[in-house]
Amino acid sequence: MAIRTIIETPDPVLKTVSSPVESFDDELKTLVADMFETMYDAPGIGLAAIQVGVPLRVLVIDLQEEDEDAEPEECHSHGGETHYHRPVKRMPRVFVNPEILDPSEDTSIYNEGCLSVPEIYAEVERPAACRVRWQDLEGKVHEEAMEGMMATCIQHEMDHLEGVLFIDHLSRLKRQMALKKLEKLRKAA
Ligand code: NI
Repeated sequence: MAIRTIIETPDPVLKTVSSPVESFDDELKTLVADMFETMYDAPGIGLAAIQVGVPLRVLVIDLQEEDEDAEPEECHSHGGETHYHRPVKRMPRVFVNPEILDPSEDTSIYNEGCLSVPEIYAEVERPAACRVRWQDLEGKVHEEAMEGMMATCIQHEMDHLEGVLFIDHLSRLKRQMALKKLEKLRKAA
């Protein structure tokens, strides 16, 4: 496994429309393992293959929600006063050749971010629920109804397969403001 370089906007590679996966081979398994390692290292909750420069219809997602069944643990990781979190439960999910079926008319708004648009967050409105059909690493087809954060996350990642970033959903003015802010942050870094 290896951490791969995450491509950032405005790299034109991110505008690529990704191709369907046809061979469910070891190369695909290595790509997915690397994508998880890269995503956890970043850290992020979702990554599309094109974000590491591979134009294939492959997504990894792990919402890394707090484990409701676990006891809160003392946290030292972000300084300040002693505080407690429940430990995060890893729930890695892989989606090969995903498709969105019947998105709901209801929408929801989440404050989104993206590893390819670092440090920038903005509210995006999307269908609140959808069904998703995809293949696993063996090529087996699955289908599931999704809602909440999972529905938003998979739609955000699906956009990457069409060469679309979350900032492309913003008004022209808001997008330009976001890109300017990113440029400033990069200069300061
Ligand atoms: Ni993204």
